[in-house]
Amino acid sequence: MIGEQSDKQVSNIGGERSKLTEPCSIIIFGASGDLTARKLIPALYHLCKEHQMPADFRVVGFARREKTDESWRNELRMALDQFSRTKPVDEKVWTDFSKNIFYCQGDLTEDAAYKKLEGMLTSFGSGPLRENLLFYLATQPSQFGEVIEQIHRAGLLNKNGAAWQRLVVEKPFGHDLASARALNAELTRYAHEQQVCRIDHYLGKETVQNILMFRFSNSIFERLWNRESVDHVQITVTEKIGVGDRGGYYEEAGALRDMVQNHMLQVLALCAMEPPVSLEAEAVRDEKVKLLKSIRALSPDDVAKQIVRGQYFAGVVNGQLRPGYRQETKVKTDSNVETYVALKLFIDNWRWSGIPFYLRTGKNLPMSASEVRIQFRPTPNVLFAAQCGQHLDPNAIALRLQPNEGIYLRFNGKVPGMSLGVRPVRMNFSYDSEFGAYTPEAYERLLLEAIAGDATLFIRRDEVETAWQIVDSIRAGWKDKALTNREFYAAGTWGPIAADDLLAQQGHVWHEPQIIKP
Ligand code: BG6
Repeated sequence: MIGEQSDKQVSNIGGERSKLTEPCSIIIFGASGDLTARKLIPALYHLCKEHQMPADFRVVGFARREKTDESWRNELRMALDQFSRTKPVDEKVWTDFSKNIFYCQGDLTEDAAYKKLEGMLTSFGSGPLRENLLFYLATQPSQFGEVIEQIHRAGLLNKNGAAWQRLVVEKPFGHDLASARALNAELTRYAHEQQVCRIDHYLGKETVQNILMFRFSNSIFERLWNRESVDHVQITVTEKIGVGDRGGYYEEAGALRDMVQNHMLQVLALCAMEPPVSLEAEAVRDEKVKLLKSIRALSPDDVAKQIVRGQYFAGVVNGQLRPGYRQETKVKTDSNVETYVALKLFIDNWRWSGIPFYLRTGKNLPMSASEVRIQFRPTPNVLFAAQCGQHLDPNAIALRLQPNEGIYLRFNGKVPGMSLGVRPVRMNFSYDSEFGAYTPEAYERLLLEAIAGDATLFIRRDEVETAWQIVDSIRAGWKDKALTNREFYAAGTWGPIAADDLLAQQGHVWHEPQIIKP
């Protein structure tokens, strides 16, 4: 890409500037779980390192196991060695950060535990450290209701007041529309919708945030971003890992609930939505909901034609034999749960009418990569057919969300030489080469937004419910149907044959994500 100084000026919108944040306390419920050590503490550590945290703050871990502040800090320090995205850990930053970390031992169901928590927060003073509170719910979803009621009863969560209190909620957000609605009702019983931050970590990824920047700050692309120019769109999120030790969870979730209901539909919404009237949270979220609502409803017949499930059987990944899904721990030996799903969706609005959007995600595939590919309509091949044959490669733009984050444009060029050969070439933008290797973890951004009270990157109530409506209709179509032979795939391959059949209906083929090293 062009590297002159004038081209390196960075717009400030949603980008580099620090957020205005007020002193506060962050209380993590379910603090001894994996998430805290792997994601939350490393994210907070990096926010400290980059001077993004409020001038004063406390982190309180709340969990049942007996621990002291000191022993918890030691545990987190060891975990940081493993999970920090920058190494070695900066001892000075850690020492300053860790002085603000405390542990509150208690049972989530007991009043006394919340009194203790209240006492601890009060010991931080009577100002913002006691009043501005971010509650991170990293417990089982079935415990959310209880926790919220208890913190409300302990006088820690108020709907109105000069200070702020917010709830951060992890996925899975319900397991269908009915349970998501019930959860929403629980959350908003003692808090306003504006106090609830529903997390989808994909929205914290730089490249996912860049989708809107890319679309709406570049006239050359946006004017092609419609049914006149686009032939179809492919959104691919593949993973090399299998379900591993998450068999129990996965048996309940499957790829559809685990990845499509949240991450993939969010990426789709950002790629296809109309421009919002501003970058205000409600304006952006209104457009996403509008888009999700214009996805054509699926009858059970449509599901049979437009949605493909898959499940891996034993195969080789990275030169190692991986077990089949049905052999994984805590998985039923005759399970029909999908480890792969491919969808053909239509968006019934003015911009996209008739254009297929293909989405696919799966485990135990040959690579871990996420990419959005906009495949443009072919040109009429009248000029070059004699020399180059009937086929001219249609143009494409690929947004590489991870890894080797970047964007490339694929177009045709003349092969040097005397003959008139044409072949596809690439113009490539890489984040690394342009901006250096600064890739903050999604949780850093999301925690900062939650502290600052900016809801843009969190999922709104109607958004989550609309997404569940789509997923529920697919599940209804699958009900009581066993997987067919064409829906199994060997670990280490690109998914079931049925997924290729899905695209072949319209003469399309899947494009493998391109891992282009800068
Ligand atoms: C999680 C899913 O939400 O996202 C996992 O539960 C999946 O199954 C993960 O592996 C993928 O996230 P990422 O950031 O690695 O693409």
